[in-house]
Amino acid sequence: MNTSKQIAILGAGNIGSSIAAGLVRSGVEPASITLTRRKAQLLESFREQGFVVGEDNRKAVKTARIVIISVEPQQIDNLLEEIAPDLDTKKHTVISVVSGVSVSQILDRVGKTITVVRAMPNTAISIGESMTCLAAGPSSEDALVAAEEIFGAVGRTLVIDEEQMIAATALGACGVAFFLRAVRSASQGGIEIGFHAEAALTIAAQTAKGAAALLLDSENHPEREIDRVTTPRGCTIIGLNQMEHAGFSSAMIKGIVSSARKAAGLYEHEDTDG
Ligand SMILES: NC(=O)c1ccc[n+]([C@@H]2O[C@H](COP(=O)([O-])OP(=O)(O)OC[C@H]3O[C@@H](n4cnc5c(N)ncnc54)[C@H](OP(=O)(O)O)[C@@H]3O)[C@@H](O)[C@H]2O)c1
Repeated sequence: MNTSKQIAILGAGNIGSSIAAGLVRSGVEPASITLTRRKAQLLESFREQGFVVGEDNRKAVKTARIVIISVEPQQIDNLLEEIAPDLDTKKHTVISVVSGVSVSQILDRVGKTITVVRAMPNTAISIGESMTCLAAGPSSEDALVAAEEIFGAVGRTLVIDEEQMIAATALGACGVAFFLRAVRSASQGGIEIGFHAEAALTIAAQTAKGAAALLLDSENHPEREIDRVTTPRGCTIIGLNQMEHAGFSSAMIKGIVSSARKAAGLYEHEDTDG
């Protein structure tokens, strides 16, 4: 990707630092990325890798063209008020990965018509395997090109309507945890039937990766690939049906719907957590 863009990542916590790691992996120079957080001493390992780190958000914005905001929803208002004077409508593109905060809420808080894109990546961005959903604010469609370039270098992107961002949070961002728990469950089953923990986890994780790759490469429906594994009266279908009797699909659907409900209220209710 074009490494001439100066990028500021304001709020370099879990996802902010994952984005930074992914960008560098994709060829961006660490020196062109500024990372901020209030406890900047916790960014020392990033400084050692060549990133610019600090707690001064305003300074970071002044040197950047792309400003990625990755604080928690209840922290974004203060941050936007702080950096608003330094946001230049002609220079900056703001990319917010903050769940549940709309483009219009960001514009209201900033008080000027800056270019805003919302992005919903996941932590696999650190290894270039994110699923990132993107949505542009009004008259910010051109900025989607820059956002697709940034996030396309660190995984897949999909442009969606802004109203689908809550759903993208639950399915794509929270989804990493759901699939990790599924892999952990599979590995625990593997231990019970005879593998040591490490071997069970390797087999489960690589099998999950292969299953996902089958879908992404072939664009087949999962049931089509499942049909290829399930011999009549065989050992796969009996296992699969046992899982369904115990509510496997239902549990995943209910979990995703609950996550989406929670994500929808993150900005409004300060006592909620991610
Ligand atoms: N984690 C994910 O997988 C994921 C995926 C997609 C989107 N998101 C969204 O991304 C946002 C961040 O999530 P997270 O999991 O990365 O949370 P997190 O680990 O708590 O990171 C937020 C960071 O923001 C920093 N911060 C808070 N106020 C700040 C300020 N005024 N100036 C500079 N830095 C500030 C905090 O550090 P200090 O306390 O040191 O300031 C913290 O490191 C949330 O809105 C979440 O919904 C997360």
